[in-house]
Amino acid sequence: MKIAFFDSKPYDIEAFEKYIDDKIKIKFFETKLTEDTAELAAGCDAAIVFVNDTVNAAIIDRLCALGVKAVALRCAGYNNVDIKYAYKKIHIFHVPAYSPYAVAEHAAAMLLTSVRRVHKAYNRTREFNFSLNGLTGFDLHGKTVGVVGTGKIGKVFINICKGFGMKVIAYDKFPAEGINYVSLNELFKESDIISFHCPLTKETVHMLDKDTVGLLKKGVIIINTSRGALIDAEALLEGIKSRKIGAACLDVYEEEADIFFEDYSGHILDDDVLARLISMPNVIVTSHQAFLTKEALSNIAETTMGNLKKFFENAGCENELCYRCGNIESCKKTRSKKCF
Ligand code: NAI
Repeated sequence: MKIAFFDSKPYDIEAFEKYIDDKIKIKFFETKLTEDTAELAAGCDAAIVFVNDTVNAAIIDRLCALGVKAVALRCAGYNNVDIKYAYKKIHIFHVPAYSPYAVAEHAAAMLLTSVRRVHKAYNRTREFNFSLNGLTGFDLHGKTVGVVGTGKIGKVFINICKGFGMKVIAYDKFPAEGINYVSLNELFKESDIISFHCPLTKETVHMLDKDTVGLLKKGVIIINTSRGALIDAEALLEGIKSRKIGAACLDVYEEEADIFFEDYSGHILDDDVLARLISMPNVIVTSHQAFLTKEALSNIAETTMGNLKKFFENAGCENELCYRCGNIESCKKTRSKKCF
C-alpha cells in the first residue's frame, strides 16, 4: 500500500512512521492537498489528509485519474470533503473519535485562561510586573453554560462544567438522554458561557451571526473548538467591540485554512478580522490545537491506518463515509462491507 500524506507536520510523522514497513510506504508532503498538489499522489493507492486539505469534485476526479482509491481523513470533521460527489468514485474514511477529552479539555483550558486572565498574568510576571490591576475574574461556579452539540466532545465538556458546579443547558438537533435541552435561541439568551461542539453543516453555518449576537447576554464568553464557520467572525468582532460579548476563546476560525498550522511570525497578516480579533485583550486564539495530545495523535494514527488496512483487505469499515441511502448516519450503522 502506497500512501500520499498531505499537510504533514513533525508530530504527524512521529505518530505515523511506525506503520511503515515492507508492505506500507508513506510519502510525507508538507503541502496541503489542492488542485495544484494532487499530482503528488501519482502512484499512490491512498491519500491521508487533514482538516484544511480540499477534497472537492475537481480533486476527487484528479485523484481517481491518478489511480488513488481511498482518501483517509485523519480527523473527525469532513466538511472539507464533497462526500456526495465521492460516492462510487473514491472511498472516504474518517476518524470519528480519537480523544473527545483532548478537545473538551482544551475548551475548558481556554475558558479558565480567559476567565482568570492567565494569559495576561503570564506575560506580566515574566516582566516582573506583579500588579493585579485588571486581572479580576469571576467564579464559574453557579454560572450557566450553554453547550451547542452534545455528541462525544460536548458530553465530556458538560461533565467538566458540572465538576465546576455550573448549570448546564444544551441544544442539539438530535437530543440525548439525561441532558437539559432548551431551544437554540433560549440557549443564546440564557447562557453566561456558550461552547460550540456541533459539526459544520449547511444548517450550522453562521449559527452565531449578527442576529443571534443580538440575543446574547451582555458579557457572555464564546468558546469555539468545533469549526470556524459556525460563527460569523465579523459579527463576533462587532459583538466584542460593542461590549456585548465579554470574551472569545477560538481554536478555530472561519478563514483559517491558509493561516493556521503555519508560522507567520515576521509576516504581515492579510486577514484584518483575525488580526483585529487577536489584538483584543479578551480574545484568545489557538490555531486548531484542541486535538493535539499524545493520546489523540496515537489514536488518530491507529484508526487511520486501520481504516486503510481494512479497505485494502476488502473488508467493510465502520468509518467509511458515503451517501448510500442518502444518509451518512444510517449507512454507517448498517455497513458490513464496502459501500460500493
Ligand atoms: P459528534 O458527532 O459525536 O457530535 C456532534 C453533535 O452535534 C451530535 O450530538 C449531533 O447530533 C449534533 N448536531 C448535528 N447537527 C446539529 C445541528 N444542526 N445543531 C445542533 N447540533 C447538531 O462529534 P464530536 O466528536 O463531538 O465532534 C464535534 C465537532 O468538533 C466535530 O464536528 C469537529 O468539527 C470538531 N472537532 C474539532 C477538533 C479540534 O481540534 N478543534 C478536533 C475534533 C473535532
